[in-house]
Amino acid sequence: MDKIVSLCRRRGFVFPSSEIYGGLGSTFDYGHYGVLVKSNIRQRWLEAMVYERDDIVLIDSAIILHPRVWEASGHVEGFTDPLVDCRTCKLRFRADKLEDSQCGRKPSKRPGETPDCDLTEARQFNLMFETTVGPVAEAGARAFLRPETAQGIFVNFKNVLQLARRRPPFGIAQVGKSFRNEITPGNFLFRVREFEQMEMEFFVPPADSEQWYRYWIDARFDWYLKYGLRRSRLRVREHGPEERSHYSQGTSDIEYEYPIGWSELEGVANRGDYDLTRHSEFSGTELEYVGPEGTERYVPHVIEPAVSIERIFVAMLVDAYDEEEVAGRERTVLRLHPAIAPVKAAVLPLVAKDSGMVEKARALYEELRSSHVVEYDEGGAIGRRYRRQDEIGTPFAFTVDEQTLDDDTVTIRDRDSLAQERLAIGQVAARLADELRKPWATPKGD
Ligand code: GAP
Repeated sequence: MDKIVSLCRRRGFVFPSSEIYGGLGSTFDYGHYGVLVKSNIRQRWLEAMVYERDDIVLIDSAIILHPRVWEASGHVEGFTDPLVDCRTCKLRFRADKLEDSQCGRKPSKRPGETPDCDLTEARQFNLMFETTVGPVAEAGARAFLRPETAQGIFVNFKNVLQLARRRPPFGIAQVGKSFRNEITPGNFLFRVREFEQMEMEFFVPPADSEQWYRYWIDARFDWYLKYGLRRSRLRVREHGPEERSHYSQGTSDIEYEYPIGWSELEGVANRGDYDLTRHSEFSGTELEYVGPEGTERYVPHVIEPAVSIERIFVAMLVDAYDEEEVAGRERTVLRLHPAIAPVKAAVLPLVAKDSGMVEKARALYEELRSSHVVEYDEGGAIGRRYRRQDEIGTPFAFTVDEQTLDDDTVTIRDRDSLAQERLAIGQVAARLADELRKPWATPKGD
């Protein structure tokens, strides 16, 4: 993980937030390449979940919802972690994770293990961030930043049913920020207090819920394989009854083997009719499906795949990271899927002082940038320029050299195989589009 954090910092993917003020724990800002990777992950998710299907529509609900939403959802009462304080080292720990925590004074021990440790009794700590709505902090003005995007979907169920004219099975998808006052955030972006969730609530006839639950576990697992994660680093783990959230009739985690060990990448839950029933009770609005004849009437059950861009971001970078020696020199390379890579191609004039090469390279760059994110780079030796692109995961480089001036051909260099071949400059745009459309498998094997 340290190598990933350092690469992200060095190449401007991710910075500690508010760094000039000393940073704010577990909060991060994204630089240019980080924004591009996040945007690619979001787009690939939207393609698979919405654009390439007929049965899922989008919503973008507010971050601050009516406070009653969180009473109905069970978050005010139940979205808590057990917390203990150490009176000696003043650190806070999750009472259910003491085994995995480090004592503030003796990091080789766990809290409570040394005679100096003085832990308080466990108490429940609500993870929602509170705020007040309006200028005066008076009773009734208390509100919360949403800890999940899902509830904004449930409270709009009736709108979508009527206005988008849907009938189960159908889904509503949302991408947006969620906030949790995590007691023990950490491991870079893995557990942060502000993250971008991608959630989809799929409403189904109750009798079909098990079948759709299995369908979405498989569909989401395949999505990770499609975008290059190694199968050997992915697994599905079904929760036992004691582990499930209050709303869940069944939950499976798609886990990735992060450097911290196997951990939840995405959750797929069968939420039953819990949410629609609770919001019907609390709001007085019936949230149910009524068939066209009026005879068919039921509360749909909900299958929910839920993930954050941050967890995918870390998994993809970890999976893609490689160090190797090429011709006696170290190179660091991110073998990202081309559809996830922040920059699709680099255009490089071999000699920056050669105006003929620069002119041709700039013209090629202008042509490619109208369709893809590409970079033009003329700074430094060609080997160093290739290595800069390898480090950010650019899958292709087009180099304009002496020969280009004679016959209008350039070289195309493949990031992973390092193979180079020549092609006519007029074929570059079509070739790049072709390469980016092809199915891709990681060269790191399974
Ligand atoms: N609506 C259901 C829900 O929110 P969850 O398991 O609490 O379920 C869903 O969260 C996903 O959101 C997780 O699988 C993970 O990908 C992501 N996630 C949750 N907490 C996170 C955090 N503190 N930092 C980054 N991602 C987080």
